[in-house]
Amino acid sequence: MISERIKNMTPSATLVQSGKIADLKSKGVDIIGFNVGEPDFNTPENIIKKAEEAYHLGYTKYTPAPGMLALRQEVCTKFKKEYGLDYTPAEVIISGGAKQSLTNALMAIVNPGDEVIVPTPCWVSYVEMIKLAEGTPILVALDEKDAYALDIDKIKAHVSKKTKAILINSPNNPTGAVYTKESLKQLGNLAVEKDFYIISDEIYEKLVYEGETNCCVAALSPEIKNRTITINGVSKSYAMTGWRIGYATGPRDIIKAMSDYQGNTTTSPNAPAQYASIEALANSETSVEEMRKEFDKRRMYIVERLNAMNHIQCKAPKGAFYVLPNISSYFGKSYKHYTINDASDMTNYLLEEYKIAVVTGAAFEAPESIRISYSNSMENIRIGMDRLDEALKKLE
Ligand SMILES: Cc1ncc(COP(=O)(O)O)c(C=O)c1O
Repeated sequence: MISERIKNMTPSATLVQSGKIADLKSKGVDIIGFNVGEPDFNTPENIIKKAEEAYHLGYTKYTPAPGMLALRQEVCTKFKKEYGLDYTPAEVIISGGAKQSLTNALMAIVNPGDEVIVPTPCWVSYVEMIKLAEGTPILVALDEKDAYALDIDKIKAHVSKKTKAILINSPNNPTGAVYTKESLKQLGNLAVEKDFYIISDEIYEKLVYEGETNCCVAALSPEIKNRTITINGVSKSYAMTGWRIGYATGPRDIIKAMSDYQGNTTTSPNAPAQYASIEALANSETSVEEMRKEFDKRRMYIVERLNAMNHIQCKAPKGAFYVLPNISSYFGKSYKHYTINDASDMTNYLLEEYKIAVVTGAAFEAPESIRISYSNSMENIRIGMDRLDEALKKLE
């Protein structure tokens, strides 16, 4: 019999859908993929070269549980250079993707029954990770009208004696929102006052537009730093999703606990990928900037096209590579045998009838929206937007 823990877990909706779409594509179905949560670019060549070097240099064995010292030192250098923050390697852990760092962090601090606040819409896996750690997710809905800005009063209203942490993500998947420094400072001060942790997932840190910069929560004050576990990784910024390297920084005792957990569950992350990630962090700014600029062009194009469609209004998100248009004005409409009663019906209609893959907002606690990822070529985005336009017109 399968354990209650796993029986109660919902599989990652985005991964399940990616599997289905890959299957259809392999059968020759011409699908425009707006569903993917990974950059479409290849990993920069200098990083690939370092991985090749790693194999020849013998970086093919286990590394220490919290990761290679040289990579942890590089993470410290990055935080000092970019945010003026001092960390030592004992306050850094390298993991098999940011996902594993997040799981480690929750396993390290959450006791059964502890509450973890999650502003929504939120990334698919947060709720399941909290449940696996036997915590209680407390979802706090942010307002679409405010472009999903962090609403501190709403969050405050959900803080209780059981609150152990808040899990935030800026730049955000799926909304693309970038939280302001002021709102994050207020949140940090609230965490200090009410004695809870902030787990700050900053994996999209480099993908910001219109002059925005990522605000690193831990850099807001020494007291806030003492309560913050920052999650990051090379997946999104350096087009390295398949390499599976993420990292976390935070208070030494928490990082030690995360490392103990990691040591017993996976030993250590992939050694050659760790070696190559040093190159990513140290020497890849030009490639990151090229990718960011390309994402920015696509973002502006897609927002313009969406706003030109009837019944869709979409503010330009300032970060990540997603837009989350509200499609609820199509609820109740029909075409052929399709009736659109919710975002999942819309996702299904777009895929089956128009061969466009988007993700239902239901997967992100955004039941009136669909998530469109612009991690696809301009040519494909143009074709996909033409198809979407036609698909929505058929529903009018
Ligand atoms: C908000 C967020 N956090 C974490 C991750 C996971 O990153 P990684 O691939 O490094 O595990 C993702 C990937 O989609 C994400 O969107």
